[in-house]
Amino acid sequence: MTATGKTILGALRNQLDLGQYTKVHWEGTFEQYLDIIRENPEVTRNAYQRLYDMILSHGTEEIYENKEKITRFKFFAQFAARYDDAIYGLDRTLMQLGNTFKSAAYGYGTERRVLLLHGPVGSSKSTIARLLKRGLEEYSRSDDGMVCSFSWKGENDTWIKDPMHGDPLQLIPADLRIEFIKQLSEALAKPPKYPIQVKGELCPFSRYIFNDRLQKYNGDVSAMLEGEVKVYRMVLSEQDRIGIGTFQPKDEKNQDSTELTGDLNYRKIAEYGSDSDPRAFNFDGELNIANRGLVEFIEVLKLDVAFLYDLLGASQEHKIKPKKFAQTDIDEVILGHTNEPEYRRLQNNEFMEALRDRTVKIDVPYVTRLSDEIKIYEKSFNPEKVLGKHIAPHTIEVAAMWAVLTRLEQPKHASLTLLQKMKLYNGKTLPGFTEDNIVELKREGTNEGMHGISPRYIQDKISNALVAHPEEDNINPFMVLHELEIGLRHHSLITNQDQLQHFKELLQVVKQEYEDVVKNEVQRAIAADEDALQRLWRQLHRQRQGVHPARKGPQPLHRELRGARRTAHAQRRGEDRHSRGPQGRLPPRDHELHRRPGHRRQEVRLPHQRAADEGTRAQAVRGPEGHDQADQPGVQRRGQGNSGKDRRGERPIDQVLRLQRVERHGRAQLRRQYLRSGADEEVGAWSDG
Ligand SMILES: Nc1ncnc2c1ncn2[C@@H]1O[C@H](COP(=O)(O)OP(=O)(O)OP(=O)(O)O)[C@@H](O)[C@H]1O
Ligand SMILES: [Mg+2]
Repeated sequence: MTATGKTILGALRNQLDLGQYTKVHWEGTFEQYLDIIRENPEVTRNAYQRLYDMILSHGTEEIYENKEKITRFKFFAQFAARYDDAIYGLDRTLMQLGNTFKSAAYGYGTERRVLLLHGPVGSSKSTIARLLKRGLEEYSRSDDGMVCSFSWKGENDTWIKDPMHGDPLQLIPADLRIEFIKQLSEALAKPPKYPIQVKGELCPFSRYIFNDRLQKYNGDVSAMLEGEVKVYRMVLSEQDRIGIGTFQPKDEKNQDSTELTGDLNYRKIAEYGSDSDPRAFNFDGELNIANRGLVEFIEVLKLDVAFLYDLLGASQEHKIKPKKFAQTDIDEVILGHTNEPEYRRLQNNEFMEALRDRTVKIDVPYVTRLSDEIKIYEKSFNPEKVLGKHIAPHTIEVAAMWAVLTRLEQPKHASLTLLQKMKLYNGKTLPGFTEDNIVELKREGTNEGMHGISPRYIQDKISNALVAHPEEDNINPFMVLHELEIGLRHHSLITNQDQLQHFKELLQVVKQEYEDVVKNEVQRAIAADEDALQRLWRQLHRQRQGVHPARKGPQPLHRELRGARRTAHAQRRGEDRHSRGPQGRLPPRDHELHRRPGHRRQEVRLPHQRAADEGTRAQAVRGPEGHDQADQPGVQRRGQGNSGKDRRGERPIDQVLRLQRVERHGRAQLRRQYLRSGADEEVGAWSDG
């Protein structure tokens, strides 16, 4: 049966959780609100406490990075992944951010600072801010994240919300608060995570109404709260401008401080007769509406100085100054972000000292671990998102590899290449390098990750590659590398020729690395093919055991090595291991069953391998031939064990195939296979043209 409009709408209704709706839209009296506090004191948290608890509510885990314990907030991974916005490889930065929120939540001083995310373009600063906002929105809808405000009784059964959605407890006059909090704290059903506090005064609008209504009740605050005030549960929402604000610099002519702190409502001035009547003022600036939540300042240091003064008061005093009104209390997290050039300007500007002093800077660098960088791109380029095109293996990997290489600093260690350094950072091992060395390398590269190619550039170029070849049903690494290279010519942020040259050479390094990886895979694929193995295996036996080629019959794979069996027999007979066998030949020795150290091998040579004119700088970056050992275990590298010798100088050896098999866990398993072939024999072909 095909669905009709009615059935579709019916199905929609089934998804609704009306109970949850009622819960989230709770309204009640002030008295009922006090009962809610008794059960759930967390409802009185301030903005920093709520934000920190929101992050914690998703859980944490401890991880070790180079022996150092790091707390990983699942919020930035699991929660964020739900919105396709997961942050990878920045655990250290995010822990620092989390710790800043924690100290602010406990009132240790950071709540009086502007938090400044500082980093190069495209390092996920906006993503972090976006996640925090989204997290708050969702948290305010959960039981744990409940947050309330209040409204005043208006004419004809209407209710007027406090324009800055203030804390209902601010309705308790300052002189009664100490006793009030004492009594409330004693009545709590459970010990609160944070002590209950009432901070700040009502906004000018509510203050006016409060005084007006109190007169009506002859100063009886309790009666007034009962008769005139309704408490309601609020849901933070950026769309509705409740508890979450964003401020973005525009040109000076189009922006003034009213955008931050609210503006006069000229229509109402006529009604109320004065421009200083709070009822004739719209408390709807970004700092007003973000009260109880978070305000994000995009590119904060691009702002005109006049705005920065507002920011100073907002952070240090938690007060803003709407035009014609007294200072007004706010309770919100202020988060800004900026790039390096603006930050340097701030550093050099002595008039900005006050701001400099009030900022807590958190560096958000680029990712320097390859596996994390790959995840960034897999987020947007995966089979679910890229329909109708196959992304060939290693396509994303090569792009990520290049991006990471551009961000690393040349190691001081003479024998370590940039590529090797990248592999070390990626968790590979390299003989002679311990975890301590890696820590040392990271310490040495102080500015690492704060420059280089941004993920945005890579994302753009992968997109280009996807659309540039409509006739193809796939994209491969060479297409992406090509896009990356031609894009460099017009890259607006690369102005320095040396840097451009360096980036281009790194592309060659990546190309070479890709070819090496593919060759190894081709070898492994051949080895994994049973038939090919059988052939290789028979050939090996003929060559090594002197078996007559005419000898027929299958040579089962799952059989002990003949030599090994003979050795076993000999041992059982108590003979010397090296005694001559019946055919007068030595049984195979251990080192023949395993890889012979230092033995020089030559792999299948592929067409187009290694650009003949690899730049000398690229060699320095990639290292001398055959010197790259930071590799997956078991993956062969050309020239390994004969470092320094140029494999290009080698003469091709005629076809010699050597296969070694090791019996393990009762199953035949290939450990190493050496393939040797002529220079012009092709094993799989591709073109890098
Ligand atoms: N560490 C990371 N983890 C996941 N995604 C990342 C990471 N770094 C960058 N990205 C991705 O890169 C893109 C750019 O990120 P974003 O816009 O947050 O950067 P930004 O630091 O705000 O840049 P700008 O300074 O130019 O405003 C986004 O698609 C983001 O998801
Ligand atoms: Mg941004």
